[in-house]
Amino acid sequence: MATELMRVDHLDKYYGDWQALHNINFSIHEGEVIALVGPSGSGKSTLIRTLNGLEPYQKGTITFEGKKVTPDKVSWQKLRQEIGMVFQSYDLFPNLTVMGNILLGPTKVQKRDEGEVKAEAQKLLERFELADQADAYPRQLSGGQKQRIAIIRALVMHPKLMLFDEVTASLDPEMVRGVLNIMQELAKKDHMTMIIVTHELTFAAKVADQVLFLEDGRLRETTSAKQFFTNPQTDRAKEFLASMDY
Ligand SMILES: Nc1ncnc2c1ncn2[C@@H]1O[C@H](COP(=O)(O)OP(=O)(O)OP(=O)(O)O)[C@@H](O)[C@H]1O
Ligand SMILES: [Mg+2]
Repeated sequence: MATELMRVDHLDKYYGDWQALHNINFSIHEGEVIALVGPSGSGKSTLIRTLNGLEPYQKGTITFEGKKVTPDKVSWQKLRQEIGMVFQSYDLFPNLTVMGNILLGPTKVQKRDEGEVKAEAQKLLERFELADQADAYPRQLSGGQKQRIAIIRALVMHPKLMLFDEVTASLDPEMVRGVLNIMQELAKKDHMTMIIVTHELTFAAKVADQVLFLEDGRLRETTSAKQFFTNPQTDRAKEFLASMDY
């Protein structure tokens, strides 16, 4: 049995008086891939941002590698080095080259040796067919290329957990495949532990071990991907899959 990497117990989150997440419970083990799915506004981004300390929560606990997370700024800053996150918007620094963007975290935050990080970055760029882009600026790249760089920028920090929030949602259709392929490779070859928010259900069915189905801020189903996509237990999940033409 793989080691439990993160667990969430009885987590509630409010925006002001309004409760966005209700009693969220789940855990993810090393090497596992979770697909977090659900209708728009169900709280997927809120949950994934909470798991990275970008959103405060009011009740419940998050445990990482067996240690309860102290929900303060300093603890999260430290922990965030272990948890990579890629968003829908690429958030690359426009004034830095691709290599400059990739080197920033490892050299400035982790204080690692620049030469060593550069060699590792170069390997990742080659692996994801971006070797020629090291000296380019973000404005010179396509959306798909920028998103692949954003993934590399997270990977080079050696995260134990990767969080992805709709990373293909703003891409042109022909760019989507290349980005999904990287995530699939990270799952199947690297056995990276990942939580993926996605509307690409065919992809989710292929890479995910576990599905969390969120609706109205509540986890309506927490089940194996196989079960969820072939025989969902709740009417809400059935309706959701039908609405997605799955
Ligand atoms: N900063 C905020 N302040 C107040 N309410 C918010 C905030 N961010 C999100 N919400 C609300 O919380 C709910 C969940 O939003 P969230 O963005 O997490 O949904 P989502 O599942 O990611 O949706 P989508 O699929 O459209 O990205 C929504 O009702 C949203 O309006
Ligand atoms: Mg969202």
